[in-house]
Amino acid sequence: MDYDLNAIVTPYVTSYIRGKTVQSDALLAELEMYAKENDIPIAEPETARLLSVLTRLKAPAKILEIGCAIGYSSILMARSLPTGSSIITLEYDSEMVRIARENIARAGLSGAITVIEADAKDYISYLSPDESFDLIFLDGPKGHYVNMLDDAVRLLAPGGLLISDNVLFKGMTADDGHFARRKITIIRRLREYIDALMSHPQLETAILSQGDGVTLSVKKISDKDRFGY
Ligand SMILES: C[S@@+](CC[C@H](N)C(=O)[O-])C[C@H]1O[C@@H](n2cnc3c(N)ncnc32)[C@H](O)[C@@H]1O
Repeated sequence: MDYDLNAIVTPYVTSYIRGKTVQSDALLAELEMYAKENDIPIAEPETARLLSVLTRLKAPAKILEIGCAIGYSSILMARSLPTGSSIITLEYDSEMVRIARENIARAGLSGAITVIEADAKDYISYLSPDESFDLIFLDGPKGHYVNMLDDAVRLLAPGGLLISDNVLFKGMTADDGHFARRKITIIRRLREYIDALMSHPQLETAILSQGDGVTLSVKKISDKDRFGY
């Protein structure tokens, strides 16, 4: 089987959607080109649009992003945020951090987006639950999503939205037995992650065959959250 995004959605549907999803922001269009030329993975065009629509819909006061790369998705989300909202984005590659900060400054968003150079797995485990986030975008190390889930849920505000990208991993997550052998560990972990999301008592999750596969998980509001007891 040929593994590309066409394994998830048929090529003509993907190209129709991409043809309609035109990037009108000059800086974001430049970053898309830069990412393509330099082989840097950023959100697929249709996932980027989903992110910006969901950000507008949710109007989060605080966003946590895991996996910043060149700052493309954090700039994209920040463009859709209400005034006064903020984003913390985590990245462990110092060159990516440098480029992201430069791009964020060019976008005039240094006041709204803080890039933290850290290993996200460690960083989120130290964050106190008082630091709660209305939206978490998980787009870092795919093989560690499952290890980061407890912290992500702990840090998500009641009613908060957890968006996880690349969960179908070019269709391989859903293809029993035929995936590239060198990807076996990551595929197993993504499967574990999807199982953990779908059975999590505090989450309600939808799996979308969008881009490289995206899950949307809402943290349920408990009676304790609602009534304080
Ligand atoms: C898919 S890219 C992020 C793309 C970005 N969210 C976008 O759409 O513009 C994933 C990034 O996560 C970073 N990353 C991977 N493992 C990480 C970790 N443990 N901690 C922090 N960053 C990590 C990689 O260096 C890479 O830049």
